[in-house]
Amino acid sequence: MPATPETTVAIACDHGGLALKAPLAEAMRARGLAVLDLGTHGPESVDYPDFALALAEAIRDGRAARGVLICGTGIGISIAANRHSWIRAGVCHDATSARLSRAHNDANVLALGARLIGTETALDALAAFLDTPFEGGRHARRVGKLGAVAATASASSSQTR
Ligand code: RB5
Repeated sequence: MPATPETTVAIACDHGGLALKAPLAEAMRARGLAVLDLGTHGPESVDYPDFALALAEAIRDGRAARGVLICGTGIGISIAANRHSWIRAGVCHDATSARLSRAHNDANVLALGARLIGTETALDALAAFLDTPFEGGRHARRVGKLGAVAATASASSSQTR
């Protein structure tokens, strides 16, 4: 079956996250998902905002509906990704946080810290992220306000330019 945005997951990391990229990509392929690997591909030191940007652009352009970002802590790369209004990236440390990032926050990006969690925990978090639907209801109202905040902030910053 040809890959669609819904069956494609983009993945990107910096050097601090590289150790988790291959096992996570392999687990997604084993589920029949297509993986859009945006790097990094080697241990050389790189800058996590560049990889967060590449993944945000892939989601914006409809090349993938969901994404996985990995750096040393998950913090820097999620901060960078969340600067894009269409990204909701949650830093998750286990299956519970990943499940709730989907159920309550409709996260479209799973952010992980390869220096903080091991491969098995990361795989459990990935499974929860992929398997959990958004609950909607009261959470939809709140997630809707995230978009409204982004729109207001960008309108007021263009007024002050
Ligand atoms: C890279 O050394 C490290 O700072 C990065 O992977 C990440 O942890 C930043 O938040």
